[in-house]
Amino acid sequence: MKWYKVFDSEAAADQAIQPQSAILLQIGDKRLCMGRHNDSYFVTDDKCPHNGESLSKGKVNYLGEIICPWHNYRFSLKHGSECENRTHDLTTYSVEIREDGIFVGISD
Ligand code: FES
Repeated sequence: MKWYKVFDSEAAADQAIQPQSAILLQIGDKRLCMGRHNDSYFVTDDKCPHNGESLSKGKVNYLGEIICPWHNYRFSLKHGSECENRTHDLTTYSVEIREDGIFVGISD
């Protein structure tokens, strides 16, 4: 697994990602969705498995699910599963908060 620094500090991430929202991350050719829930960060693929909408345009609900803005399917940020199993799971990625920043782990 290769680790990519996406923020220099937790404070920088807090500033860039409002509570219960998400942003788009581009790492190489990968488009990822980084969501914030209860001051924790989660990273998944950005492309909705249902019909391809960008999940980073969605909101995060109180259960820690990212809600796709197109047809409102809800995916667990932690596990990637859709709440009613209407489509296949999102790929999720490891996030580590270290002294020198926030890192996302992507398998080779
Ligand atoms: S494209 Fe995401 S729910 Fe349909």
